[in-house]
Amino acid sequence: MSQPTDLKLQAVRKLFYPGTANEVVALDGVDLEVPVGQFVSIIGSNGSGKSTLLNTVAGMYPVSSGKVLLGGVDVTRQREYQRSRAIGRVFQDPTAGTAPSMTIEENLAISFMRERRSGLRLGVTNRRRASMRAHLEPLKMGLEHRLKAQVNKLSGGQRQAMSLLMATESEPSILLLDEHTAALDPKVAATIMDLTAKMVSERGLTTLMVTHNMELALRYGDRLIMMHAGRIVLDLDQAQKQELQVSDLIEKFHEVAGEAFAVDRLLLD
Ligand SMILES: Nc1ncnc2c1ncn2[C@@H]1O[C@H](COP(=O)(O)OP(=O)(O)OP(=O)(O)O)[C@@H](O)[C@H]1O
Ligand SMILES: [Mg+2]
Repeated sequence: MSQPTDLKLQAVRKLFYPGTANEVVALDGVDLEVPVGQFVSIIGSNGSGKSTLLNTVAGMYPVSSGKVLLGGVDVTRQREYQRSRAIGRVFQDPTAGTAPSMTIEENLAISFMRERRSGLRLGVTNRRRASMRAHLEPLKMGLEHRLKAQVNKLSGGQRQAMSLLMATESEPSILLLDEHTAALDPKVAATIMDLTAKMVSERGLTTLMVTHNMELALRYGDRLIMMHAGRIVLDLDQAQKQELQVSDLIEKFHEVAGEAFAVDRLLLD
């Protein structure tokens, strides 16, 4: 009847500096089930736990309590590298997803190598180059003509497009995007968002996308989650989301969180 679940969080709590005066409850009992292929947008105020949620899925640090299941497998005790094959990530910082001093083709060779386990050969053959061009062409950024260019010579948008390509190349079970367009100017951000939506739908990728931009959260994805103080305070499906505008979302936040917050950051990107 229902879709198989790709990601399941059960009563996840994450405390930093537990038992000290600096204790932070970053996640305070998060339950979340994401079916295969669902695209979830996540919004929430600063410090509400959005990045911690993504880091928890990726296994960057152990949870304090609760369970994390990926594709039905309990990965709660798995380290980050043990689940890295199942996870693709793109961060806010365009320099984070690629090796800056290496060329486009060297970067792609690494990500292709990871995927196909084709042995530790960094050599780039002509056949591989043709395949790389075929992957780069749909990005519509002309990168297919610049295989020998160093990545640190590319613009932020081009680098994020590369990061997206590399994060999705291994067909991960889940794609984690943490404000991946926030550091780009609005026009480039829109291009990267369209590219993201295209990749996600073409490959049917299960995706969690954190954004500060409510407009984006409403427009993209087929589910919208709002976090506050380490909890999921609002969870809207596609139909509910379609009915809403940014002003409704702000009002909803006030209802559930019982306080105002930095709305300006949520509107600007
Ligand atoms: N590695 C860490 N060490 C200590 N505290 C942390 C760490 N990561 C996050 N926190 C704390 O956990 C809480 C949640 O942080 P998190 O980064 O998940 O928020 P966020 O919703 O992503 O915020 P923002 O919108 O500012 O990115 C914050 O109080 C933060 O200071
Ligand atoms: Mg964050």
